[in-house]
Amino acid sequence: MAEFTLPANSIVKKGKTFEAPAGAKNVRNFLVYRYDATTGDNPSIDTYQIDTDACGPMILDALIKIKSEVDSTLSFRRSCREGICGSCAMNIDGSNTLACTMAIEDVEGDIKIHPLPHQPVVKDLVSDLDNFYRQYAAVEPWMQSNSKPVGGRERLQSKEDREKLDGLYECIMCACCSTSCPSYWWNSDKYLGPAALLAAYRWIVDSRDEQTDERLDALDDPFKLYRCHTIMNCATVCPKGLNPAKAIADTKKMLVQKNL
Ligand code: SF4
Ligand code: SF4
Ligand code: FES
Repeated sequence: MAEFTLPANSIVKKGKTFEAPAGAKNVRNFLVYRYDATTGDNPSIDTYQIDTDACGPMILDALIKIKSEVDSTLSFRRSCREGICGSCAMNIDGSNTLACTMAIEDVEGDIKIHPLPHQPVVKDLVSDLDNFYRQYAAVEPWMQSNSKPVGGRERLQSKEDREKLDGLYECIMCACCSTSCPSYWWNSDKYLGPAALLAAYRWIVDSRDEQTDERLDALDDPFKLYRCHTIMNCATVCPKGLNPAKAIADTKKMLVQKNL
């Protein structure tokens, strides 16, 4: 197979090539980012030539095959392989997505796989998401109320109020959106980013929650909320088809109305 080349000024080195078994007919090149924060050596791109006739259909299947049969040192996260847990989020062919729901045949040419962008890398495709999870926790993503439920039982919600949560509750916290957002790249220490803001809005509009004003006040800050410039990368990449940009815009509208 043709060897790939890196740009002359690239700080990423070309790494090892693991060749496909002799006789393999449908071979694809997987170009995978390799880095180990414990050694701090420059990152490299390793090439794994995979016989797709002997591999499952998804990018995650190929990564699992590489780890099981070719190179056990490769690190990546995965759990459900059903697009539910969010663990296998990574950058494939230049776009953030889930490796378990992305088909190999949907990527043309060499398949380039990198960790989620603009996050510290722990190892290979494993990003450090501590800041991302801290921001999620900061919006207090659970129901808060001071009153007792009527009848001492569960809190009821009308069908119409429940429908307001559609497009919000389905978030799997994969971080594809936040790590594709330029505002988040530059200000992730202060801007909460689309995933945490979607989670905040999910509780702001929940009819059972009684902290709506407090939640809005907590976001009324030049950085936490207002760094969103409606660039829309978040909605473009979300593997669950959600629209964090709209939730952010609606939160801004609620704040304007509240502060009139
Ligand atoms: S719409 Fe806002 S949150 Fe979404 S990518 Fe753009 S700046 Fe980031
Ligand atoms: S909004 Fe979408 S892209 Fe962002 S964390 Fe949730 S599921 Fe992932
Ligand atoms: S392994 Fe769970 S979303 Fe991909």
